[in-house]
Amino acid sequence: MFSGGSNCNKASELLSLLFSIIMAVARNVYRFIDIGANLTDPMFRGIYHGSRKHEDDYQEVLKRAFDHGLKKILITAGRVQEVKESLELAKTNDVLYTTCGCHPTRCGEFEKNGDPDGYLNELLTLAQENRDKIVAVGECGLDYDRLNFCDKGTQLKYFERQFELGESTQLPMFLHCRNCSTDFLDIMKRNRDRIKGGVVHSFTGTKEDVSAILDLGLYIGINGCSLKTRENLEAMKSIPTDRLMIETDAPWCEIKNTHAGSQHIKTTFPSKKKEKWEKNFCVKSRNEPAFIVQVLEVMAAVRGEDITELANTMYENTERLFFKKEQ
Ligand SMILES: *[C@@H]1O[C@H](CO)[C@@H](O)[C@H](O)[C@H]1NC(C)=O
Ligand SMILES: *[C@@H]1O[C@H](CO)[C@@H](O)[C@H](O)[C@H]1NC(C)=O
Ligand SMILES: [Zn+2]
Repeated sequence: MFSGGSNCNKASELLSLLFSIIMAVARNVYRFIDIGANLTDPMFRGIYHGSRKHEDDYQEVLKRAFDHGLKKILITAGRVQEVKESLELAKTNDVLYTTCGCHPTRCGEFEKNGDPDGYLNELLTLAQENRDKIVAVGECGLDYDRLNFCDKGTQLKYFERQFELGESTQLPMFLHCRNCSTDFLDIMKRNRDRIKGGVVHSFTGTKEDVSAILDLGLYIGINGCSLKTRENLEAMKSIPTDRLMIETDAPWCEIKNTHAGSQHIKTTFPSKKKEKWEKNFCVKSRNEPAFIVQVLEVMAAVRGEDITELANTMYENTERLFFKKEQ
């Protein structure tokens, strides 16, 4: 059939046109709120480890996100300076919001000027003065995989102090817990009554951790890092749908081919290495909000649930916790 070279080209052009039409139709089926994307990361401006690799493609990244059904994006911020940057960015677009708090690996900042109360107050003031854009206290929590950035004692102390922010603002908490479950749960239990609620994002724990978190009435956020192993998938499966949220943790935590469950991915994104960047291509190994659809695809397949319903339920869960004023 495809004997001549030009016929062959025409056929493949036609196929690719057909493919893009199908993708465009498929694209708007789901609606998402990405509860965790670090849009202030310089990678979204083309800068990697301090050196420019390609032109600023932040607007393209956002456009791809909206094309793939993203209705809101919660930018993660993890120290005072970052909250300020994140707020600036959030103010440029109606659907961008931010967290306000101190990441476990950054808790050394509390003591940087010998004035932990002052640092906490700065966070509090930011949260109080920007109620339209700041929808959560966080990221805060514990990270024992990265004690080189901040020791355990400091992490414990300033995680617990951030409940003061949760208590006085009554904003939900955006929680980070890596290799820390016992200490994390102890602190949560002690302080649970002070806060409105929260989500444990980028969940990588066990089934036992799932039930402990559910007992605390918290939600659980799933991204590519939550889908690495069989055990991860089993734990994810054990979370009731009404407690799930979805995220990318961009620019990190993309789903790799080696991830358990990666065979369930249906939507793919043409990409090029950062050194070979081209307009309309994603960047290899740089996760971005549009890829959230892949997280959904894996989740729905592994859980054996209707994909649209799952997306809608997670959307409503997120609205309930972060965006509904009255409860
Ligand atoms: C966001 O990215 C910047 C740049 O890599 C990093 O310094 C910061 O810690 C990240 N924030 C969070 C909350 O992960
Ligand atoms: C988990 O945390 C402990 C400290 O509580 C540390 O010794 C261990 O190396 C951490 N595991 C990983 C994988 O980093
Ligand atoms: Zn985190």
